[in-house]
Amino acid sequence: MGSIIPSSDTLCRRIAGLVARKEDEVVVELGAGTGVISRALLAAGVPAEKLVVVEIVRDMADHLRAALPGVNVICGDAFELARDLPKALHGKVGTAICGIPLVMLPLADQQRFVSAVESVAPGKGFLLYTYCITSPLPYRKLALSAKREVWTPMNFPPASVWRYQPAR
Ligand SMILES: C[S@@+](CC[C@H](N)C(=O)[O-])C[C@H]1O[C@@H](n2cnc3c(N)ncnc32)[C@H](O)[C@@H]1O
Repeated sequence: MGSIIPSSDTLCRRIAGLVARKEDEVVVELGAGTGVISRALLAAGVPAEKLVVVEIVRDMADHLRAALPGVNVICGDAFELARDLPKALHGKVGTAICGIPLVMLPLADQQRFVSAVESVAPGKGFLLYTYCITSPLPYRKLALSAKREVWTPMNFPPASVWRYQPAR
């Protein structure tokens, strides 16, 4: 399920608090919309040059580029990261954050997304924020492990952040 209301400050801060990256790694936000989470990531200390935002809608990508100086905004498809993320960043993703409402997609498309992330961030998985009460992804079918890292009522609607990683 998606929301037409941007994520709250609290949710954005909680997401930013989950981000980890080594010095040479980037944080990749997939489906940034208005950029509220991107701004929280910058406020939490992610250097602009280490933040990569992938947004499929050209007008939104243009808006993000103007609003987020120094951030690498890519107008591209999160399901085609092997193609759309610069090769130099493959294997250099510390954390990937997904703002695309994957819950609404068929399993085959969810699998395509999981594979796309795995192709550029092997073993890392991704964070997914959601308004679902239970896991928005059928993680066992997708060969993922799942952990709810955050639940907050300080968002409309109340939101959770899940961490999905390839199951071992
Ligand atoms: C729910 S909005 C994110 C909202 C934002 N994080 C916020 O809280 O305001 C989802 C965003 O993902 C983008 N999007 C959808 N499919 C995408 C794809 N395949 N690749 C990249 N971005 C995509 C949409 O254009 C939209 O901006």
